[in-house]
This record gives sequence, C-alpha cells and structure tokens, in this order.
Amino acid sequence: MRVFHLSAECYPVAKVGGLADVVGALPKYQNQSGLQAAVVMPYYNRKFVQENEFDTVFQSSTLLGTRRLYFEILKEKTDKLGFELFLVKIPGLIDREEIYSYPDETEQFIAFQIAFLDWISYSQQSPDLIHCHDHHSGLVPFLLQHSKLYTRLAATATVFTIHNGQYHGAFGWDKLSYLPEIDLSKTGLLDWAGAINPLACAVKCCWKYTTVSPTYLQELTINSNGLEFLFYLEQAKGVGIINGIDTSIWDPNKDPMIPNKFSLKSLKGKQTNKEKLCERFNLSPEKPLVAFIGRLVVEKGADLIATAMEESFNEHPGQFNFLVLGAGDKEMEADLLGLRDFYPEQCNVFIGYDEALAHLIYAGADFLLMPSRVEPCGLNQLYSLRYGTLPMVRNTGGLHDTVIDFGDEGGYGIRYNHASVEDICHSVTRAVSLYANEKHLLALRKIMMALDFSWDRSAAEYITLYESLKPTI
Ligand code: ADP
Ligand code: GLC
Repeated sequence: MRVFHLSAECYPVAKVGGLADVVGALPKYQNQSGLQAAVVMPYYNRKFVQENEFDTVFQSSTLLGTRRLYFEILKEKTDKLGFELFLVKIPGLIDREEIYSYPDETEQFIAFQIAFLDWISYSQQSPDLIHCHDHHSGLVPFLLQHSKLYTRLAATATVFTIHNGQYHGAFGWDKLSYLPEIDLSKTGLLDWAGAINPLACAVKCCWKYTTVSPTYLQELTINSNGLEFLFYLEQAKGVGIINGIDTSIWDPNKDPMIPNKFSLKSLKGKQTNKEKLCERFNLSPEKPLVAFIGRLVVEKGADLIATAMEESFNEHPGQFNFLVLGAGDKEMEADLLGLRDFYPEQCNVFIGYDEALAHLIYAGADFLLMPSRVEPCGLNQLYSLRYGTLPMVRNTGGLHDTVIDFGDEGGYGIRYNHASVEDICHSVTRAVSLYANEKHLLALRKIMMALDFSWDRSAAEYITLYESLKPTI
C-alpha cells in the first residue's frame, strides 16, 4: 500500500513539537511492516535541507487566486530517514526558515496543499491513501472530492490525524478564491462558524480521523475550541491511537546526545548525567531535580509554573531544584526568568529550543512536570519514562492514557486532576517525599523503564485502520 503523509513538521527536517517526532517515526515503522510510506512537507531553509542532497522530481506552476506560483518537488536522494522525503518548494512563499507564524501562513499552507495535489495528479501517481496531519493539510480530503481538477484522485482514501484540536487554521471567506476550482454546491463543507475552517473541513471530509490518544478522542467533544458539536456529530468516524516513541533515537543506552549511557540493568549513568546537568546549571546534584520541557503556552499549563514553584520553594526551602527548558509566551518567559533570579540556588531556566539539552534533561532529571490543560498525547512523559524520570502529570488526554499514579495498582508516576497551582504544589510535595525514599524511587524507575511505548504497536494500529478502508479503496 502506497501512503503519503502530509505534514508541516517532520523530525529531523523541521521540528517545533511532537508532530515532528510522530511524522519522523510513524512512516519509518510502517515501511518496516511492508507499507510504502512517504512524507511530503513544505521546504524550510534549515540545517537538514542545507546539509543533504535532493533531486528535483517535478516542476510546474499553479495558481493561488490570481498569483502564479512556480513550484518544485524535491526528493531527498538517499531515503536515509527510513522513508522517501519530498519537499514542496515555492520560491518567495515556501522557502523560508521558520515553520510557523508568518503573516501569510494561510497562503503558505493552501499553496502547499495545491502544489502537492497538482504534483500527484499531473505525474499520474495513484497513492492508495493520503494521511493528513493537523489543519495544515486539512483541505486535501475536500479538494480531492470536490475540485474537478483532481477527479482522477477523487476515490483516494484519506485519514486525518488530529495532533492538536485547539488550532484550526481558520481564515475568512474572502480567501475562497485561493482554492482551485471547486464544486460551489459543496462550500458548506468548508465552513464552520462563518469562516473557512481547515480542521473542521478535514473532519467532515476525511474517510476516518484519528486522535493521538483514545482519551483525547472523547475530550474533543467537550473541548475543541468551538468544534465540540462537530466532534460529537462525527464521532463514529473517529479512532484514538496512542503515539509511540522512536526507540532508535530515544534509547538511554545508545543516545549520542547524553554523556553517560544507562539502562534498566545499569542505572549508574543516570546519576552521572544528573551531575553534568546540575553542574551546567549551577544546581546541587544532591537534591531532587524537577524539570519542565516544552512550549511555554497556556495549553501546557506553563502560566501556572512560576507561581506554583515559588510556593513550593517556600514550602520546602532548599529541598528540591527546578529546571526549565522552553520558549513561547514572552510574559511566561519573563516570569520564569524572574523566578530564577529570585531563587538562583534552586532554579535555572533556559529560554530557547535545544534538542540535545532536552535529551540531557530527560536523562538527568528525577522528575518531569507536565501540568497540561490540554495534552492530545504528550511525548515528553514517554521519553521521561524511558529515561527513568518520573512524570508528574495532569490527568488529561494522552497523559491519562500513559501515566498511572504510583499510589494506584501497577502505578509509576504522579498524577493530579487539576491544572492548578494547588495540584502542582501537592505533586511537588509528593515528589520530594518520594525522593527521600530511595528504594521506592528506584523500584518505580525500574517499572517505568521497562514499559514499552515503542511505535511497533501503534504503527500496527494505523495499518489495521488503513486496511479497514481497503475494500472501498
Ligand atoms: P507538543 O507537540 O504539544 O509541543 P509533545 O509532548 O508531543 O508536545 O512533544 C514535544 C516535543 O518537543 C518533545 O520531543 C520535546 O522534547 C520537544 N521540545 C519541546 N520544547 C523544547 C525545547 N524548548 N527544546 C528542545 N525540545 C523541546
Ligand atoms: C501535539 C500535541 C501533543 C502530541 C503531539 C504529537 O503537538 O500537543 O500532545 O503529543 O501533537 O502527536
């Protein structure tokens, strides 16, 4: 079965968050199971693209409204990522460095989708299935069925995965002319609440949609930034499949990004990594180290952290340390830097994005804080489990599906119900007292590290889903 994954991110080509990790791993595991899975993404002028060689496999021009766009499709020469990687390059529109946040982002993602469809349509390719990820490729299922330019592909099966239901990519009807010629009797499918809404449109038009955890599938019907009723109506089409992790990259016994390798059998390296990490950030390695890694946004509960940590530092003076790696909202960044300046011996903050540092923190910290308000799956807790770092998570979405509280049968993490300062403080209190009980913590570490969240199982679930669409393909 030939499958194209369409995504705005893919590790290691371009990454902002977990979407990149998933799209960089899932096709690789699918190919190992006999599928022919490829990734198609926009061209970003970044390290991976500059350091690797590409062939131009297709060149053409297309229209975005009245603007003529010249585009090319580049293919990475060696398939070194474990799948064919195709980049859509449009000079002047899709050839920049950043992944998001340009003022013409709507135009960028529409043009990405049109160029992809033109390419497969004019080069006579016939994929069995197109797997779209998030709203950036959400118009594809609609265009396949309702634009006469792509009639040849109208029966192609589509799967749409929702990694983040908060972002819809909505834009005004004044931009309708950017779309290729469509059947105007179908414009209702594009609409939600008076705007063209690519996420809503994808949910309506795809053959099946998936969420990155079963719990998140349910949650979308009560919290999806205005699409709750749509998810309620369409739920029969939804399937929840938990993400996996790429264990060839995230393996504490082989990870080239950490100075001391370690494993379930020999945990000594974990302590040495902690010492290196603490030395770099001027923290005492004797004390429990709680860390936070992630985008500093309200969804992640990042606005609660500075206050919660201040209260916890006062409640447990000198008894634990806290380290942050993240970037995002400027106010949250400033609050965390303020916390660091106020408690320089207990707290440090790295504002920015640093893949290697993230690996070192998963390896060297004792606890990983995730007070998320919304967490469709969450990969941080899965990485931290694999690296023997105990996750302290809010009971939501994928965190609910992957972390069991150590107070419950078979448990290994710390789980709390509310994204609130009180619950975070309580989780810190539990972490501090658990750290004092060395034996118990060690036993939990061993349980965590033995858990299997590799992609094998989840990749197989996607294949089963694809195959369920087969009789109609
Ligand atoms: P999300 O995709 O919502 O940001 P996930 O938990 O799914 O959350 O994935 C986050 C991914 O991004 C993980 O691989 C995490 O290690 C990484 N990450 C997030 N922020 C940073 C950062 N500042 N530096 C390095 N890696 C980061
Ligand atoms: C999104 C979600 C995150 C999930 C990731 C990969 O960014 O916020 O919870 O793990 O996508 O699916």
